[in-house]
Parts: sequence; structure tokens; C-alpha cells
Amino acid sequence: MTILIKNGTVVSSTGSYSADVLIDGETIAAVIAPGDRSLGDLEASAEKVIDAAGKYVIPGGVDVHTHMELPFGGTFASDTFETGTRAAAWGGTTTIIDFAVQKQGERVQDSLAAWHAKADGECAIDYGFHQIIGGVDDESLKAMDELVAEGITSFKLFMAYPGVFYSDDGQVLRAMQTAANNGSTIMMHAENGIAIDVLVQQALAAGNTDPKYHGLTRPWETEAEATNRAIMLAKMTGTPLYIVHMSAKQAVKVVQDARDEDLNVFGETCPQYLYLSLEDHLSQPGFEGAKYVCSTPLRAKAEHHQEELWRYLRTNDLSIVSTDHCPFCMKEQKELGLGNFAKIPNGIGSVEHRMDLIYQGVVDGEITLERWVEITATTPARMFGLYPRKGIIAPGSDADVVVYDPAARTEIGLHKKHHMNMDHAAWEGFDIDGKVDTVLSRGKVVIENDAYTGTKGHGQFLKRGMNQYLT
Ligand code: URP
Ligand code: ZN
Ligand code: ZN
Repeated sequence: MTILIKNGTVVSSTGSYSADVLIDGETIAAVIAPGDRSLGDLEASAEKVIDAAGKYVIPGGVDVHTHMELPFGGTFASDTFETGTRAAAWGGTTTIIDFAVQKQGERVQDSLAAWHAKADGECAIDYGFHQIIGGVDDESLKAMDELVAEGITSFKLFMAYPGVFYSDDGQVLRAMQTAANNGSTIMMHAENGIAIDVLVQQALAAGNTDPKYHGLTRPWETEAEATNRAIMLAKMTGTPLYIVHMSAKQAVKVVQDARDEDLNVFGETCPQYLYLSLEDHLSQPGFEGAKYVCSTPLRAKAEHHQEELWRYLRTNDLSIVSTDHCPFCMKEQKELGLGNFAKIPNGIGSVEHRMDLIYQGVVDGEITLERWVEITATTPARMFGLYPRKGIIAPGSDADVVVYDPAARTEIGLHKKHHMNMDHAAWEGFDIDGKVDTVLSRGKVVIENDAYTGTKGHGQFLKRGMNQYLT
């Protein structure tokens, strides 16, 4: 099918300009300047014309941090690949990279096969995988090399969650050495899990069981210390290091210092750390704060982390905003932690709202329109080996395109815009000055006229290349 998106403003990471976009089948065939004499003919021959007058035409969002069906705390994240990728499409995200999970004692290849079994044939949009290595040993290190050949070019390690996903410093070092050899990128959950566990036991012994103690037992020092340690270990090995879900300004300062030294160190933050806080959300009365339990935790507004995170996004010390989408219902899931905050499954659902929430940063003057596209689509694609297939509107790229309407509004809430498989919305009451209007995934219209027109199974698995930012 040929589709012409006409009269819009195409936004890339480097500029915005008036152009029409011609799509032929699954790819972008041409980006055409207004007034081009061939336009009339193209319009006449296009099978579908989308009028984007007054709207932005941007590359589909690339969310490189999701957890569909993640096993956590005795339950599973509530979105399947079917429901989660459909919700992503509603929000203008056309690619996700999810985490396959290897636990100690399990073969890495088996865990990857299990993730394929969950996702293949289920997704509305394209998807790739990172691999979590939860048990670093000779066999799993060897498997890392094999996976690179299969397009899994990034591996997540945890300095948190002792007894679950945790790796000690020796294991981290060995995995980093392996990554340095095979060219892949290490993604790090940087929190000092051993220290946190002591603080958690002390809080519980003192009768402090409410959700807010999840945040109070994970002070910023535990994030900054682990971030520094991860960077030092990475520096010893030469591996590229990507620190996930950063919330503490002091930790990002450590990343900034490493980047100033020209190290291949990158930082990611998430919408929850830019908008939600310990005081206003995690400390809500009763058990309401459980909705906002995630790790790293929401930080104190009074400490001005949010302003600093936006600033670090402007200076590129934070390179990417992903969601860390990890939804749990209150009923029977978050409720597992009634009377004990340490048993609340960690995670917030946001895959549907990232593009809108970060666009609000454009409206609020925090970032430019171009930076919005860069941190939500272009950089994620380049960081994880998908560019220029994804993350840009250019001839030959996949026709993953979002028409975004700056004149419309999006009201987020369980009974408003909400398509994730959750019984509550962490973003209840957030209203955005902008709206995802039309979404195409590889040339197929998946959202149009406030309706989902995609299909389960349209999404293809993406074999990824290497990180394209290495110096
Ligand atoms: O709270 C979080 N972040 N849940 C998902 C697991 C992880 O650490 O990314
Ligand atoms: Zn994590
Ligand atoms: Zn995560």
C-alpha cells in the first residue's frame, strides 16, 4: 500500500521542516519538499492520503526498557506482549525492547526461548530483547557471546535484589569483560542492594511497613555509590555501560563526570522520575503509595531531583527516556505487600504515556521539540543498534511514523486514556497539551481516529546491531 502523509512538519533530532512523507509498503520511500512538482502525481496515485496540516510527523517512539510478564515478587507483570504492545501503539511507541530473564541455575538460551514463546506472534509493534543475566557463571558468560550473534546485543545486570537477580562485584566484572570482548553493552541496575537490605530489615523491625519506606530505605547514596562502582568496573574492562532508570541527581552527576572523561557511559531516566515524587505519590495515605513503588525509587521533590534530571536531559548526560514499564494491579499484586512494603512488586506502568509525558516537557519549556524526538526515538534506536531502520524519518527506514497533534489534548486516567492491563493508573489526572493522532507501524496504520486498527502478530522480532555511540 502507498500512503502519503502531507502538509505536516517533519521533526527529527536535528531540525524540523515542512515536508510530505511517502510510504511504499513497509518503508519510507521519500521525504518530499513542499512545492515539488511530482507531488500532484504522487497524491493522485497514493492509495491513502493522511492530512497532517498543523501537526508534527515524527519517527515512532522506541521504548528500550519494558517488562512484559516479568516474574517479580511471586507474581508477574500484568501486561502480556499482546496487551502491552497494543497500549504502546496507542501512545505512539512503535518499537519496544523487553528484557528476557535468566535466573540463577537456568540456561540463558532457555530463558531467551521462553521470552520468544511469550512474544512471538503476539505483538502489535516491532520488538527486540535485552538479556538479563541473573546468574553469572562460565556457562552464562559463554551464552552471552552466542546471543550477540542472534541480535541480542545488550545484557542487564543487577547490583540490587540480593538472592533474586543480584550479581556481586566479581560477577559484574566478569560479565563486563565478556561484553568488552564481544562488543555488547552492559545495562546496569545500579543500587547497592546489600546496604538496602539492611535498611529494609531495620525499617520493618521498627514497625515502618508503609509503602513510603520503600523510598526511605533506598536513599540516593545507594544509587550514587552503585553507579560509581559500576562505572569503575566498566572502566577497568572497557565495556560500554548504560545505567538504567536513574532517579538521583547525585548519581547522574557521576555519569556526567565519566562522560566528561570520554568514557562510554550513558544514562537513562523515566517519566516517573521527572514527574512523580516521594512526598506527593509514594507517601499517599493508606496503601495508595504502593502504586508508586518502583526501583530506583521516586525521590524527594524537596531535593530538586526532577529539575536536575530535566537539565541533564538537555545536556545529554541523560541520553534516553524509557518507561521501565512494569505494571502490576493493586488487587492481588501490589496487595502482596500490605503490611510489608518490601513485598510490594516493584514497577509502574507507563508504556502508553511516554511520548505524551515527554512532549509535555516541550510545552513546559524543558526540552526542544527536536530533543523530544531524539531522547524518545532516535537515540534509543542508535544506542541499541536499530538505527536507521528505526528512530528517523528518512528514505529506506521502516515506516514507523506518528502524526502528533499539538493542538489537541490527552487526558490520562483509568476511565480516560488507558489501554494497559492495570486496575489503576499511576498517571491518573495527568492532562497533556498534545495528542497522538495517527500511528503507523511498518506502513500499517495501527491508530487512527481514536481507534486501534492494528493486529496481534504484526510486530516482528528485531535482530539488533551494536551500540552506535562508542568512542
Ligand atoms: O521497579 C522496577 N524497576 N521494576 C522492574 C524491574 C527493574 O529493576 O527494572
Ligand atoms: Zn532495574
Ligand atoms: Zn526495568
